[in-house]
Amino acid sequence: MISRCNISEIIALYVFSAWYWFVEWITRLFFLKSGLSGQVFLRCEGRTALITGGTTGIGFETARILLSFGMNVIIGSNLSSAESEKCLLKLRSLYPKSKVEIWYIDLKCMSSVKEFAEKYLRSGLPLHVLINNAGIMFAPHEITEDGFESHMAVNYFSHCLLTKLLLPVIKQSGNSKCKARIINVSSCLHFLSQIDFSDLNSLISYCPHHSYMQSKLCQVMFTLSLNRFLKISNCPVLVHCIHPGVIYTNLYRYVWWAKYLGPILFQKPKIGAEVAVYAALSENLENDGGKYIEEYVDVKPSNYSKDSELQSRLWNETWKLLQPWCDEVDDIPSDVSSE
Ligand SMILES: NC(=O)c1ccc[n+]([C@@H]2O[C@H](COP(=O)([O-])OP(=O)(O)OC[C@H]3O[C@@H](n4cnc5c(N)ncnc54)[C@H](OP(=O)(O)O)[C@@H]3O)[C@@H](O)[C@H]2O)c1
Ligand SMILES: *[C@@H]1O[C@H](CO)[C@@H](O)[C@H](O)[C@H]1NC(C)=O
Ligand SMILES: *[C@@H]1O[C@H](CO)[C@@H](O)[C@H](O)[C@H]1NC(C)=O
Ligand SMILES: *[C@@H]1O[C@H](CO)[C@@H](O)[C@H](O)[C@H]1NC(C)=O
Ligand SMILES: *[C@@H]1O[C@H](CO)[C@@H](O)[C@H](O)[C@H]1NC(C)=O
Repeated sequence: MISRCNISEIIALYVFSAWYWFVEWITRLFFLKSGLSGQVFLRCEGRTALITGGTTGIGFETARILLSFGMNVIIGSNLSSAESEKCLLKLRSLYPKSKVEIWYIDLKCMSSVKEFAEKYLRSGLPLHVLINNAGIMFAPHEITEDGFESHMAVNYFSHCLLTKLLLPVIKQSGNSKCKARIINVSSCLHFLSQIDFSDLNSLISYCPHHSYMQSKLCQVMFTLSLNRFLKISNCPVLVHCIHPGVIYTNLYRYVWWAKYLGPILFQKPKIGAEVAVYAALSENLENDGGKYIEEYVDVKPSNYSKDSELQSRLWNETWKLLQPWCDEVDDIPSDVSSE
């Protein structure tokens, strides 16, 4: 495999992340000390949320907060059933009256995503909040059995498919008074990225940093496209994406120095989870979708991500590649770029 790593790109990544890390510390110390308290949320009791990767890190904390708000939570995870049971016990001991379940999903494998979605649709459960959280970062090169590069598969394509397959139930669950929401956990690193359409899945050359950033950029672009599509079709569903912060979690398993510095210097998962919960439930965000949120503020995403020509190209490419797992693509419009 040819390396496409470029030292200046990697330096830019670290400098940019360090800047974000610094600003986050200042913000948390002086401006956001109280976290979520003081925020106004939609009424949650009895509503249902689905979160991927909710057994560790930011996802686990997000699931915990949603349960504390009285929501029912389904977690999609690739843990073994014994490990899932342990995680469930932990959550149920914290919130004994809660309704929480863990269902198996392997986001590297599109047929697993499809099975998961079919199980969900069969269950008859509503779906008010979908949080596309699971992710991997800087993993070694791997092409999945479906032909996707692993970052693109786990962070982007699987969540696109999951969202598409669950859209019927999401649409039904929202109403004009209280819209359903889809949240993508993206990253500030999307600012540094551009999409390489000629080698989207790194079949020719590979750099883990490039692939991670590209997958996060795709999430932002897809958020903008899908939100527009849902708005045009008058659906009571909003789509937002977030940057959770620089948080110490398992995500850093491939970054050798993070296990020394991360626990001291990075923020705790709860901080990132609060941003996800804010995006999922805040009344402030009920009017308009398609927002990119950092630290409870909607920030303009990168100019690249807002380019409607590129969004349309990615949208077309995405559905072309996901076609084998979609029964009917009728409800996906061929082009959403024209507003
Ligand atoms: N931490 C940060 O500084 C930071 C910054 C910006 C954005 N983010 C984003 O935040 C999100 C959450 O990350 P995190 O920091 O909480 O990391 P994390 O603790 O590693 O959580 C990621 C979750 O995704 C799951 N996952 C990975 N591959 C999977 C697969 N093939 N099938 C099903 N589940 C899979 C993991 O399960 P296993 O444990 O079983 O692998 C884990 O539960 C990610 O999308 C990440 O890109 C994080
Ligand atoms: C879940 O998937 C990730 C890669 O996406 C992998 O590293 C991890 O080992 C898997 N977990 C289990 C329990 O199979
Ligand atoms: C992100 O959001 C769009 C909706 O905007 C959704 O279709 C997609 O699956 C989500 N996930 C990713 C990883 O982009
Ligand atoms: C993004 O576009 C806006 C308006 O088109 C422009 O003012 C701004 O400088 C651009 N930002 C970057 C980083 O290019
Ligand atoms: C995406 O596909 C539609 C219809 O198939 C087409 O009209 C549009 O031009 C395509 N977008 C791009 C950027 O190629």
